[in-house]
Amino acid sequence: MEMIITYQPAKMNTKVKMNTKVKMLILLLCMTGIGLFWRGYMSPYTSPQVLGGPCACRRCLSEANPWFVQHFNQSVEPFLSAKYLLTEDSFNWWRRLQLEKRSFSFYKETVDQLFQMFPSSPRVEGPRPDHCRTCAVVGNSGNLIGTPYGPMIDYHDIVIRMNGGPTQGYEAHVGTKTTHRIVYPESAVDLDDKTHLVVVPFKIMDIEWVMKALSTGFHGRSYMPVRPFIKANKDLVMVVNPAFLRYVHDNWLRKRGSYPSTGFIAVVLALHICDEVEVFGYGADADGNWNHYWETLKNKRLKTGLHPGNHEYDMIQELAKQQSLKFYKPT
Ligand code: C5P
Repeated sequence: MEMIITYQPAKMNTKVKMNTKVKMLILLLCMTGIGLFWRGYMSPYTSPQVLGGPCACRRCLSEANPWFVQHFNQSVEPFLSAKYLLTEDSFNWWRRLQLEKRSFSFYKETVDQLFQMFPSSPRVEGPRPDHCRTCAVVGNSGNLIGTPYGPMIDYHDIVIRMNGGPTQGYEAHVGTKTTHRIVYPESAVDLDDKTHLVVVPFKIMDIEWVMKALSTGFHGRSYMPVRPFIKANKDLVMVVNPAFLRYVHDNWLRKRGSYPSTGFIAVVLALHICDEVEVFGYGADADGNWNHYWETLKNKRLKTGLHPGNHEYDMIQELAKQQSLKFYKPT
């Protein structure tokens, strides 16, 4: 008898505990469901980086469409690292961009020096099943003026800006946050200590420049004046892989134009390092000129230079149509 008396309450306790556990589990599942639904509702586009892998965004590779898969190649390294070896074939493609005269072995020696000074592999957050890396890519188009996109841009984990695009004085339209700034020596500006300096090299001099501009000073010459010194955090320097430029030109632009613009390189880069990409500040003015949001256009014949500007714009529109990114146009 005694045993039964002591046993019954214990059994009831177990039942009560089980019920509480089940309720907690149901509550957790409901909360996760609501979270996933909300995330999906807020972010209705494909997450390319997770091609074949786990993904905390609404859609993953299995749903990526054939058009996207035809262009995207996850195996191309976006950034140079100490371990990466550029092929001579890619070097020979790259050297034509700005008429590089020096040899492949000189290129390799220069890259070796680069990694004696900067981190041997770039700091890029990889995909995680419990996280959705959101990125805003902010071009320099004059059509940002008058838009209310600033706070939306700042909401992203990563905010990629390019060249001299300022934020001060334009906060409402372009935001305040910058995590990455993509430049080449002729377009570089000083950065704060927390921003990644992302250098797009078009010639060996550009790799030499980043080493010297952050140490003893650069005194070489280019087709435009180049800053001898620059402020940036050395630990956050990243150099884009020349083979990545070739991939953008071949796979994404189908070899149109001489080579891709900084802005288009930034878009494809974002597709490789982010799970969700939102694009702001792209589009020429009514005359087809790449005007800037911070200045009045002086050279009315500027157009888009060596770059296939119209085609790049069409590709961004197509990426948006295919739901691989979201493209914000003037309001
Ligand atoms: O003029 P800048 O090269 O600094 O602009 C950065 C990028 O922004 C360009 O490479 C281009 O892709 C994009 N842009 C644009 N429309 C403009 C100005 C710039 O699409 N009016």
